[in-house]
Amino acid sequence: MITPISYSYVVIAAGVGTLLWVTWRRKRIRTYRYELSTRGTKSSLKAVRELDDYFELTGVPRPKPLPDFNIDEALPRPYRPFRWRYHQTMSLLNMEPDWWIELESTYRERISQRKDLYAQHGTKIVDSMPGSQDACLELAEMVIQFLCARYPNQFHRDAAGIFHNTILGTHTDLQTVEPLIFLLENVPEDFLIVQEDEKSGSYHFRAGVSASAVGWNMSLKIGKPLNEVHGPVPFYKEKMQYSMDRFFSKMTCDKPIQRGSWGFEIGQPLYMQADEPQWSHRNIQDPNLDINDIYLRVDWQTLRRLPKSRAIVFNFKALFTPVTHFREEPFIPRLVATVIRESERPFMEYKASFHTEHKLLPSLDKWAKEQEEKSWVPRDWKVRTLDENPFYPGWESDHRY
Ligand code: HEM
Repeated sequence: MITPISYSYVVIAAGVGTLLWVTWRRKRIRTYRYELSTRGTKSSLKAVRELDDYFELTGVPRPKPLPDFNIDEALPRPYRPFRWRYHQTMSLLNMEPDWWIELESTYRERISQRKDLYAQHGTKIVDSMPGSQDACLELAEMVIQFLCARYPNQFHRDAAGIFHNTILGTHTDLQTVEPLIFLLENVPEDFLIVQEDEKSGSYHFRAGVSASAVGWNMSLKIGKPLNEVHGPVPFYKEKMQYSMDRFFSKMTCDKPIQRGSWGFEIGQPLYMQADEPQWSHRNIQDPNLDINDIYLRVDWQTLRRLPKSRAIVFNFKALFTPVTHFREEPFIPRLVATVIRESERPFMEYKASFHTEHKLLPSLDKWAKEQEEKSWVPRDWKVRTLDENPFYPGWESDHRY
């Protein structure tokens, strides 16, 4: 029989038990958060898995699952990260936890392109330096946890440590796969890993998968500090270097960020190098260029710190949209035309939009006028960054999952 006294003992014991468990759990998480991993290079993704819940470790919430997700119908969100007046700044937004890795209908095609590029170019596409192994393992583990949580019908890890990708019909043994190869073959995004250099305190590019580089490749940048990686970026030294270095040293795991980079291309070049014949076409304005062949390329990027290795990972996907879509996107034609015409020249030269401008600008002007006539845009609109940045008003009706 339970008397009031014995009942009190039970309540007290349960309270003490809970307190001890919470304290132990917090201590364990703290340990993981602040200690560098001591695992050797033989550690596998299976071993990492048994220890860590990366949503808990990072403090970034688990994404909302998409049980009805259909890869063949999934459109990417229509990123239009145009800003006016344009100033070269970091232009960071808080990352939305549901959208760290966003899959869409080009998935199969991109994965196959990435594998081909790796077969052709080797360490220009995937490479890592000694000392980055733990960071690579940790990154792959975080990605696996995200994919399985966000896309439960597409990805699954079983008790034996096999990763099942039902989109591709592949089954990967996580005990033996190289983490960067796992990323190359399952996620159509590039991942660049930077680590703090113990001597200088600055962040160096130490490992990555990079199949979407235009004008550069891993072998030109690996091992370098961020200021050298960004050498060709106009105004980087004067306007960004100081804030970037500060930002990297202070960045915490629970505050990932996102930003977008954009450019205009003929066709959809995912990976292009300066020694390819196509590259020289960027200096020519072809009078026969068809507006239907010009694409906006947005590299949608996120940046986050890994809790155990303390490395920072920069990942991005390249998304191509025919510029003819702008016709239906309120404010975008005028905003883009202003950015192209009035930005500082070094910036537009770096963007290399010269080879498209002669066809793009007249079309943008025409669509901007049409939008005014339809009263989508006020005639006296003073061009500025949109409140919906990085999207545009009404974008949700164009976005389908
Ligand atoms: C807050 C973080 C970062 C900011 C604000 C930033 C900013 C930029 C900007 C403004 C550009 C020029 C293209 C554009 O308009 O976006 C650029 C290019 C580039 N960034 Fe970053 N970046 C960041 C982090 C990183 C990290 C961590 C890496 C990893 C190695 C990286 C690698 C590169 C590379 C390889 C390029 C191309 C450079 C070239 O043209 O040779 N960035 N970045």
